[in-house]
Amino acid sequence: MTSDRAEASTKNQQQRPPKTVMSGMRPTGRLHLGHYMGVLKNWVSLQPQYDCYFMVADWHALTTKYDDTAYLQENVYEMTLDWLASGVDPNVSTLYVQSAIPEIAELHLLLSMVTPNKWVETDPTLKDMVAMLHEDLTYGLLGYPILQTSDILAVLGDLVPVGKDQVAHLEISRDIARRFNHLFETDLFPQPKPLLTETPMLLGLDGRKMGKSYNNAIFLADTEDETWQKLRTAITDPARIKKDDPGDPAKCEVVYPYYQTFASNGAIELAAKECREAARGCVDCKKILNEFVIEELKPLRERRTEYAKDRAQVEKILREGCEKSRAVAQNTLKQIRAAMRLYQSPALV
Ligand code: TRP
Ligand code: SF4
Repeated sequence: MTSDRAEASTKNQQQRPPKTVMSGMRPTGRLHLGHYMGVLKNWVSLQPQYDCYFMVADWHALTTKYDDTAYLQENVYEMTLDWLASGVDPNVSTLYVQSAIPEIAELHLLLSMVTPNKWVETDPTLKDMVAMLHEDLTYGLLGYPILQTSDILAVLGDLVPVGKDQVAHLEISRDIARRFNHLFETDLFPQPKPLLTETPMLLGLDGRKMGKSYNNAIFLADTEDETWQKLRTAITDPARIKKDDPGDPAKCEVVYPYYQTFASNGAIELAAKECREAARGCVDCKKILNEFVIEELKPLRERRTEYAKDRAQVEKILREGCEKSRAVAQNTLKQIRAAMRLYQSPALV
């Protein structure tokens, strides 16, 4: 590229406003290492490049847990702490709570009018959620993908960092955005695209999916000692009963993949070699791994401890984030009401 063109393209980039990233998480309580490696690290890496909106999806939590709301407020706070601990930067990104933005609910209602039921009924992710229900399917749960679409479109999100399981919801989001733009002859809505996380899923210590209910998770809020106490119980190659039985890293379903995720290349190779040669026992192997995991989590735990000392500051971060995202959502809704030719109430902002 000639220097003229290089300069022109930099200028272009400067003129274009950064794309909007929007994502959310249901407040299920404390987050674990799987959330961090699979989702939060990705969020953090997007911050320098994009205008990021990260939302606590407390209404979404109600779609399945409406009968147990006692922990909801505490979970919102704990999850926000874990985001901040992970490096989500409130000076750069906007952190907010869904239920503080009533415009999202209004958008949910309006979008529900233009969404054919069959789009929702055939959403495979929603089908999975319905299959796991112990109660009857509620109208609220059926609206899950429309609510999620409203989250994204209220702030005109272009890119949505999510796991594979959310891709089906996002297809509906694009269909709804397209249909709305077409029906009301506008180009207001972007077509939100998923940004998939590349990292492989981190298993729980027992080899099942990492999850709070399985009691197999390392939490970001755990102490170093708690981490070690958990890690030492992790499953290994089941054929290694005595220390001098040679092992096979490929059959070590948890500890070895953790090495691949957290350890240096040299340490990974050495673990594999000494495992095969029965030159190290599993407990020693886990001790070395523990150092790497602790190292990775150290800055997170320091930040978490700092923020946890000052709850008022965390509340302030959310309050300011809610104000900012609400102003954006109000502006979007104003344009939507106009595009739909709704009654222009002077009382509505
Ligand atoms: N459904 C998402 C999940 O369970 C959470 C979510 C709610 C979300 N609103 C969103 C994700 C908007 C992306 C964009 O993980
Ligand atoms: Fe797994 Fe390490 Fe034990 Fe080998 S030595 S089975 S890699 S824990």
